[in-house]
Amino acid sequence: MLVINDLHVRFNGREREAVGGISLTINDGEIVGLVGESGSGKTVTAMSIAGLLPRRQCTYSGDILLDGKDLLHAQRSELRKLHGKEIGVVFQEPMSSMDPLMKIGHQIGEVLRIHTDLSMSQIKEKALEAMASVELQNPEQIYDCYPNELSGGMLQRCMIAAAIVIEPSLLLLDEPTTALDVTIQAQILELLKKLNARLGISMLLISHNLNVVRKLCSRIAVMKRGLIVEIGDTESVFLNPQHDYTKALIKAIPTRERRFG
Ligand SMILES: Nc1ncnc2c1ncn2[C@@H]1O[C@H](COP(=O)(O)OP(=O)(O)OP(=O)(O)O)[C@@H](O)[C@H]1O
Ligand SMILES: [Mg+2]
Repeated sequence: MLVINDLHVRFNGREREAVGGISLTINDGEIVGLVGESGSGKTVTAMSIAGLLPRRQCTYSGDILLDGKDLLHAQRSELRKLHGKEIGVVFQEPMSSMDPLMKIGHQIGEVLRIHTDLSMSQIKEKALEAMASVELQNPEQIYDCYPNELSGGMLQRCMIAAAIVIEPSLLLLDEPTTALDVTIQAQILELLKKLNARLGISMLLISHNLNVVRKLCSRIAVMKRGLIVEIGDTESVFLNPQHDYTKALIKAIPTRERRFG
């Protein structure tokens, strides 16, 4: 279980806090959606959980506990261990998170090389398994490809494979499908849902697309200017939004999609 308690983050030189005191719990196996306008603090929240805050460039306080272990204040070395093993991260741009000069399979197995004592052949086997579980056709073949040889959708599947290969308990997804076309988007979302059901991985899904969130998430948190202004079960938030900002967000969904999405 992930517990965020009164998280504050302020970047040096900024007057306003990027995150102004948020509290949020993600239960085991749960998918929670995080939505909100650009600059509302969604990515900074995810970075705080992922241990990717540039600590010297900001001040922060509060608690982030994953199964009781403190993620916000842990030493770097401790964090690196925790993050490799317990938390997988998938960001919007698959290309920018991949090393263009390293074969795909090698990148997917990387985290196992760092965090486990598995042999080379065991690592390859695990990487191929993860690639199969994200429904990549011909994992063996893709294993030896370089990133520029794959399509955006395939790359995003590879990113997800890399994030789950070590079987983390939590997956952070920051706009994981925004860069992809609609059909591929739907396939990736379906895949995330399956992975959640099959492996029981908890997920934090950041998205601008409320329909995406509605399909996947049991609960939804709405951020505005660094604060969570509304949080609740997805359906009740959709059917009975309390905050004006949430109402506006829902109103902004194209009607056709609202009805049939
Ligand atoms: N490294 C940084 N240095 C200074 N300010 C930053 C830094 N990263 C983020 N911020 C600021 O923190 C605030 C929150 O940004 P954040 O990236 O979390 O927004 P977001 O909700 O993810 O927006 P978007 O939907 O556009 O991705 C913004 O005001 C942003 O300018
Ligand atoms: Mg963001």
